[in-house]
Order: sequence, then C-alpha cells, then structure tokens
Amino acid sequence: MTAASGAEHHLPAIAANELSKAFGGVQALRAASFNAHAGEVHAVVGENGAGKSTLIKILGGRLPPDSGTVLRDGQIVHLAGPAHANARSIGTVFQELTLLPWMTVAENLLVGREPRSALHLIRRGALAPAAEALLAGLDIHHIDPRALASEISLAERQIIEIARVVTRHPRVLLLDEPTSSLVEREVEWLFARIRELSAAGAAVVFTSHRWKEITSIADRITIFRNGREVGTFDKIDESEAITLMTGQQVETLYPPRPSVPAIAAPALELASARLTTTTSLELTLHAGEILGIGGLAGQGHRELFLGLFGAAPLHHATIKISGKSTRIASPADAIHAQLGIALVPEDRKTEGLLLPLPVRDNLTLPILSRLSRLGIIRGGVERRMSRAMITQLGIRTPGPMQPVGTLSGGNQQKVLVGRWLLAESRILLLYDVTRGIDIATKHEIYELMMRLAAEGKAILFYSSDTEELAHLCHRVLVLRDGHIAAELAPPELNAEAIVAAAMHDHHAE
Ligand SMILES: Nc1ncnc2c1ncn2[C@@H]1O[C@H](COP(=O)(O)OP(=O)(O)OP(=O)(O)O)[C@@H](O)[C@H]1O
Ligand SMILES: [Mg+2]
Repeated sequence: MTAASGAEHHLPAIAANELSKAFGGVQALRAASFNAHAGEVHAVVGENGAGKSTLIKILGGRLPPDSGTVLRDGQIVHLAGPAHANARSIGTVFQELTLLPWMTVAENLLVGREPRSALHLIRRGALAPAAEALLAGLDIHHIDPRALASEISLAERQIIEIARVVTRHPRVLLLDEPTSSLVEREVEWLFARIRELSAAGAAVVFTSHRWKEITSIADRITIFRNGREVGTFDKIDESEAITLMTGQQVETLYPPRPSVPAIAAPALELASARLTTTTSLELTLHAGEILGIGGLAGQGHRELFLGLFGAAPLHHATIKISGKSTRIASPADAIHAQLGIALVPEDRKTEGLLLPLPVRDNLTLPILSRLSRLGIIRGGVERRMSRAMITQLGIRTPGPMQPVGTLSGGNQQKVLVGRWLLAESRILLLYDVTRGIDIATKHEIYELMMRLAAEGKAILFYSSDTEELAHLCHRVLVLRDGHIAAELAPPELNAEAIVAAAMHDHHAE
C-alpha cells in the first residue's frame, strides 16, 4: 500500500460503515464495511450477486443505503445522487453503461461542463474540438467525438465512460467492472490512467472478475460474499480467494480440452466474407471443435459473429452448414433448429435480454415456437425447463418469474448462456460469454463448453480475455483488419502469441 502523507490522509478517503440494502426480499448488503485510502488501488471481488455493485452505487451516490453510513475523508456524507457525489470529488463508472445513445461522444463526454459563450449558451461548434483535446490528453485518438454514442463499439463506449469520469480528476474513483468489455491493450490503457490518478493521490476502487488484472494493479483486495466483506488482503492467491468467495474449492480454472475426432466433419464453412475491409476471410469450424477468434478490438469479430447470426449483412459471403450451402439472412434463419446457430450478444442490455420480462421468458425465447408446436400446455414445460436451467447454471434469482433486469450483471449473463443451452444448437457462436461472470461460474461455463464440444457441437468462440482463448480453444484465429493474421494451435497457442499476432502491425505506434 502506498504510504499516505499529510494528516488529512490518515482517514480513509472513502469508507462504508455497516451498509445494508435490500431490494424487495433480496438482501444485497448486510452491514458491509469497506474503506480505501488516498493513493491506494483497492479491488473488490466476489461472486455474482455478492453485493459489489450495490456497494459502488451507494458510495457513488446512486443509491441510498437502508442503514449505515458513507464517510468521505472521515466525515459522514449523505449523497443525494451521482452529481452530489461528483461535487464531493467522487467519480463513478457504473457497471451498466450510462452514455445516452442519441447524443454524440463529445456531448456525452462534456455533459455538465460544455464550452459556453459569454451569454452562457453552449458553443456547439466547440464541443467536438474540446472533446478531441480531452481525449488526446488521455492518449485516445481513435474515437470520433462527432460519432453518436450508439455508433461506437461497446469497448469504445466503455472507454468514453471511463474518460468522462477520469478527466474530472476525482479524489475517489469508483470503477465497477471497467475492464469486462476491454481487450488487453485497452486494459493497459486504463491501468495507466489508474496509476496516474493514484500516484496523484486519488483512492481508486474497482471490481473485476479477472484475477490476473486484480493482482497486477491492486494494492489491497477485499472479498465480498453474501452481501458483506469477508476479508481484506494485501496479497492472496487465487485459489484461496475463490474459496473465500464461494465457500468451495476450485482445483483448476481451465479444464483440459477434449480431443477433436481426426475426421471431424466441417460443421460450418465460411468463404469470401468481407468484414471491415475488402480482404476476405475464410474459415472452417469442425464438429467437436472450439475455434477461437482473437485480436484487438474492432478488427471484425463483431461483424463476423453478427453476420453468421444473420443480424448484420455478410457481404458476398458463402456459408455452408454441414456441407450444404445455406442462406442466413436473418436471426430467424439462424435460430431455426436446423441451422442451430446461437449467439450471445455483445451488449446483453440492448441486444440480448428483455429486461422487464421474467427470467423464464428470456430463457425460452428462441424455443417458444418449438414449445408451442409440441401442443403441450406451454407454461408447465417452460417453467420446468427454465427451473432446470436456473439450477444447472446457479442463476441467483428468487424464481423463474423474476424480471431479468433486477438480477446482478453476471446472473443476467448466465440467463443468456442458459438460452443457447436450451436451444440445443449444433453450432454455437459464443461472443464473450463469460464477460462479467465470476470466477467460479466461469469455471462451470468452461466445463460446459468442453462437454458440449465432446458431444460433437461446434463452437466459435470470441473472448476479450486472451487467457481464455489460449486455454480453451483447439485453434485460435487472430483477426486483423478483417482478415486472419495468424492461426495458432498448441504448442504455439498461448496468450503471449495471440497478443503478438494481434499487435504485429502496431509496433510502430
Ligand atoms: N434493482 C434491484 N432489484 C432487485 N434486486 C436487485 C437489484 N439490484 C441488485 N439486486 C440484487 O442484489 C444482489 C446484489 O447485487 P449486485 O449487483 O450488488 O451484485 P454484484 O456483486 O455486483 O454481482 P455481479 O458480479 O454479477 O455484478 C443480487 O442478488 C441482485 O440480484
Ligand atoms: Mg456488479
């Protein structure tokens, strides 16, 4: 831990004292306490639903506690909202992104501090240049401040969200899963910003489910379980931490890959697909294979996955499923049982889940027609299937009829994972499925992937977590500018090799 100087720093910059918070019947926090000092980077870890976001929301002024207090530099504060917290120099990046999609990047970035004329009118023409300068100061050059927030990628939105807070130089910076949609290079960018701020004396609190990141940047780690802290450590190893988080022992994080049959039939063949440039891409995915797609953000992964799912055009591409030419013009084509393609979307909020609807409906969405075709009373079967899935994946919900929007981030993601399992697809397009999922659940999902591959399902797998690609895939294709820059397989397959292949053209930067 960095030593603090000056008398005012002997007290924590931010502290929670016995905070409790309930949502209906769910006790999210149970007399939880926590503190972070000036100059410190403090990680909060725990299973999905442990209460991390609730803690951050209360510290960030977004939620009032039912009981307990928040202290800023030792003084009790009653935060009436994020703006009030800002005034106390507490800046928060919440887990769910808050950019307004219909506004430009510049408008979002500068909201509340727009350049103004003498008459106090917003100088619209000055917005973009001001934003550009702010972003350049953070070493961000690739995001157009004039673009609408809805037009940029999820990772870019996350970066703007972070930039919006960081450029206000808060004394307390709260980051709830800031890296979950970022790839390695962007994580390095964020960590450089965190180091700058903490070196300047800010207290930085962040949550993450990626252990490597946590140990690389945190001075202290607090573990949450069931709504309260179970310990704070300067150093703790991963398996010990998992035991504290879950009460269970997880032996190895990554299960062994099942072998692919020597004469596995091609399940999916894609040819002359143009993703981001005119160079075309070809790939073959076999039954029983887990084929990884890696590379930096914005290299065509998203276009590839959405294209195969029929949710975006794959210009001029030819697609064969089990050797037969197939047209995938819409998600309906893709979901159609015969095609068996499922996609876990990038942004579970806008593309995946219907938040006000129950967990049950979200799980069974793609198979509703099948359920009703069976001619059985839909409700009963549906409820049984969704209950089974809730148990299998350990989805934390009071019941299948709970609106999905009220579940914790990771539990929402599990509902998406459950959906493709229920749909029984033969080819699974998994796009960053473990994003935001806790370590113990990730482990279960990895095992599930292995089981599905061993059963002969073909899996196309994109992950922003390079370690995951290296450990789980039979082969990894590294994309660069919409084409395959490298194909890696064991023994050459490891995280460093994937990063090196992805960065090949970028050394000069
Ligand atoms: N608005 C809400 N309505 C109902 N329940 C809620 C609400 N917000 C949170 N909860 C519940 O409170 C508990 C704690 O949620 P929280 O979001 O703090 O967990 P978390 O540790 O951030 O999990 P994750 O790692 O999945 O993000 C969960 O059981 C969650 O379902
Ligand atoms: Mg959370």
